[in-house]
Amino acid sequence: MSKKRPIIIDTDPGIDDAVAIAIALFSEELDVKLFTTVAGNVNLEKVTGNMLKLLKFWDKSIPVAKGANDPLIRPAIDASDIHGSSGMDGYDFEEGDTSIVLSDHAVNAMYKTLMNSEEKITIVPIGPLTNIALLLKVYPEVKAKIAEIVLMGGSTSRGNKGVMSEFNIAVDPEAAKIVFSSGVPIVMAGLDVGWKALVFPEDSAKIKTFNKTGEMIYSLFQKYRSGGLKNGLRMYDSCAIAYLLKPEMYQVVESFVDVELAGSLTAGTTVVDLKGYLKQPANALVCVDINPEMFKDWLLESLKKCQ
Ligand code: BDR
Ligand code: CA
Repeated sequence: MSKKRPIIIDTDPGIDDAVAIAIALFSEELDVKLFTTVAGNVNLEKVTGNMLKLLKFWDKSIPVAKGANDPLIRPAIDASDIHGSSGMDGYDFEEGDTSIVLSDHAVNAMYKTLMNSEEKITIVPIGPLTNIALLLKVYPEVKAKIAEIVLMGGSTSRGNKGVMSEFNIAVDPEAAKIVFSSGVPIVMAGLDVGWKALVFPEDSAKIKTFNKTGEMIYSLFQKYRSGGLKNGLRMYDSCAIAYLLKPEMYQVVESFVDVELAGSLTAGTTVVDLKGYLKQPANALVCVDINPEMFKDWLLESLKKCQ
């Protein structure tokens, strides 16, 4: 069997985060070395608590490190309207094991994990980019140890938080700008693919029958407000994991991506220069389209492999 690919997941669970985490943890191809948490969908205490609840649910003891409580500059905004006030409404989880939380801040935990690793590690941010920006600024030497950053965030067109801004980037645009300008290879799986990565009621019904993870996810879906049960629930964060495991489902384009900070109506927009107006070298591989059927089949097959 080929070696597993080492990854670090930076997350703000989050109902769609929980789905992505389930798939990553039970994948035969991925080795999750560390989870780091960041305020986003709800505050840091809640997202960290949710991460611990998920690990307890699966009886896994992968280290967790708490990261940023607030964006770099702007006041925090959350998405409790989408994920519920707990961030993972809909299932009655047992409390997690706080002893697996490292005493190190997420930035230091990522630094140590990267520097102590013989092989390069892929970072998979599925929340706001605050921790990743801090890591790259405080410890620029880690760049040599990062295989790539495969992130869920941004959009080549419209937004889901602002008119033009996607939530993870809108929460902390300054952090996103630091990450996109870091020189580290970046894959951006944003709304262009997230809006087509859908789960319909008949899929949810199947997922429920697979295993206890399926039952849990089915319950969370009853409270998830991204898209709709009938029109399809949006599996945004699984798009980053899907890129790692089945990139052939995507159409990708190399492009220069910058982040709008100053726009009074557009702060947090990812400016994806597909036509090269800005005459800048490409800094990201942008997922511009997805095969929705392939995604759905992959998602269901992946969830079937969970406990
Ligand atoms: C992103 O925002 C969050 O609400 C989701 O978890 C996902 O990471 C989608 O815009
Ligand atoms: Ca998320």
